Amino acid sequence: MILEKIEQIKEELEKIKISKKEDVENLRLKYISKKGEINKLFADFKKVSPDKKKVVGKAINDLKTFTVNKFDELSKHFEDKGSDEIKNDLTRPGEPLTLGTRHPLAIVRNEIIEIFSRLGFSVNEGPEIEDDWHVFSALNFPPEHPARDMQDTFFIERDPDILLRTHTSSVQTRVMENNAPPIRSIFPGRVFRNEAISARAHCIFHQIEGLYVDKNVSFADLKQTLLYFSQELFGKDTKIRLRPSYFPFTEPSAEMDVSCTICGGTGCPICKGTGWLEILGCGMVDPNVFKSCKIDSKEYTGFAFGMGVERIAMLKYGITDIRKFYENDTRFLNQFQSAW
Ligand code: DAH
Repeated sequence: MILEKIEQIKEELEKIKISKKEDVENLRLKYISKKGEINKLFADFKKVSPDKKKVVGKAINDLKTFTVNKFDELSKHFEDKGSDEIKNDLTRPGEPLTLGTRHPLAIVRNEIIEIFSRLGFSVNEGPEIEDDWHVFSALNFPPEHPARDMQDTFFIERDPDILLRTHTSSVQTRVMENNAPPIRSIFPGRVFRNEAISARAHCIFHQIEGLYVDKNVSFADLKQTLLYFSQELFGKDTKIRLRPSYFPFTEPSAEMDVSCTICGGTGCPICKGTGWLEILGCGMVDPNVFKSCKIDSKEYTGFAFGMGVERIAMLKYGITDIRKFYENDTRFLNQFQSAW
């Protein structure tokens, strides 16, 4: 009896017509699910007389293998067919491409470069690993100047002559050594200082240096250039003020403040109630620097300035912790959209 039943199921399975995916599932339900035909056979198997158990057992197991193989084959066939159909469907929407956004520091750097390029400034870059001459000596730093101190400068190995540049003013030296005036150029780049990392300071940051050398360049040219730059970057109502300062490579030297980008000059916590924010150092190129670079200071004068990109980005976007720029947290980075 049971052997006939097995034979009958096998015949059914051989003849079965499967034309769609649901038929495959129906096959599974009818034959190999818990309540399917094959499990019924296993239940009936208990009643089989001991002398026939060997033959019947083998027949049921063979039927089971046959059915499972058939099911696997059919499901694979319909799955492949399904994905082929999807692949060939030309009306299907395309895979979404997620675009990254520019880093806020790159946005600000590019915007600054763009503003100065409108004034005819070109862009130059110099090496991050520098020598003492280009970073300090040629820029009129006296041998005992604190900026050369081990505290501030990262030296390469123990050679005090090879170091990571502490400012992009080093590119001034290189450009003046290699080019005859007129020179009108800006130098963006990374700089390194041996400083403790905090919300306000980092040991790696970015600067943009500017240099203009020609006949008859005056302090008035410097002031007008920086006013134009500040109003382009922070808005037409921005005011600037220059405070006397000291840098070895400029004489006279100044620090420039812009009217507070948050309160507009009335006083707020960001500008500590003063209405002003310091954003750069500047001055007229010191004749000693011209001398180091073999430019005749009787024929030429020039101005230079240097600013921190992080500081400007923080003011522009209201960011209060410099470390945010380097954490690569996309929730932070995706907030900055720009044409640059
Ligand atoms: N190199 C200075 C710094 O890192 C910034 C600076 C000040 C650059 C005055 C200049 C300048 O070109 O004239 O703090």
